[in-house]
Amino acid sequence: MGFIDIHSHILPGVDDGSRSMEESLEMLRIAEAEGVSCMIATPHYKQGRYRADKKELLDRLKMLREEAQQEGIGIRLHLGTEIFYRAGLEEKLMRQELGTLNDTDFLLVEFSPFEEYLYIRNAMEELLGMGYCPVAAHVERYQCLVKDATRAAQLRDMGCRIQVNTGSITGENGLGARHFVWKLLKRELVDYLGTDAHNTKTRRPAMRRCAELLYKKCSREYAQELLFENAARELFQ
Ligand SMILES: [Fe+2]
Repeated sequence: MGFIDIHSHILPGVDDGSRSMEESLEMLRIAEAEGVSCMIATPHYKQGRYRADKKELLDRLKMLREEAQQEGIGIRLHLGTEIFYRAGLEEKLMRQELGTLNDTDFLLVEFSPFEEYLYIRNAMEELLGMGYCPVAAHVERYQCLVKDATRAAQLRDMGCRIQVNTGSITGENGLGARHFVWKLLKRELVDYLGTDAHNTKTRRPAMRRCAELLYKKCSREYAQELLFENAARELFQ
């Protein structure tokens, strides 16, 4: 089974990720060479900046799927959203205006790097109360969690999932991020991986080096859970 990337900005022209169909196709070619077989496109939703209109995103997804097929690219593509949390988001969610990960109850949620832990915890509680399973996007960015890794465990105990970026595992995102994600990995507190790919150069859909490190430093079972099993079980039933 190939790797599953649950966090990417591969849809063209909808956020600060891919700027064109050609760039998206090139990103897909890179991902395929990296061993990825399935990607969830998770365009940003941020009030006042990125609106992530569901219908528009589905149209783009359809176009990208068709172009990729014509190019002989075998990656399966699905839709999600990376939702920047703010108070009042619930109304938009209740109207089902924002896409969950592959139409499941799982919601990829982002916060400001300097957000307070209490705010994050309350937000997650709110989303859980609405019946969603929130997935905390790239937790290595949140200083309140980096300061105290037990907080990531607390979020997980509440029923949230924890996502880290592959570039943080390999060290491409700096030593601090690497140190923290490995602390989480050693305690098996991570559930999902995402490339968080935005382009073909500085933020590529890289997965292979990360997979090698996981197989080397974690148990085979846990590496497989992270690389594809958890996502296959929870997001692609
Ligand atoms: Fe992202």
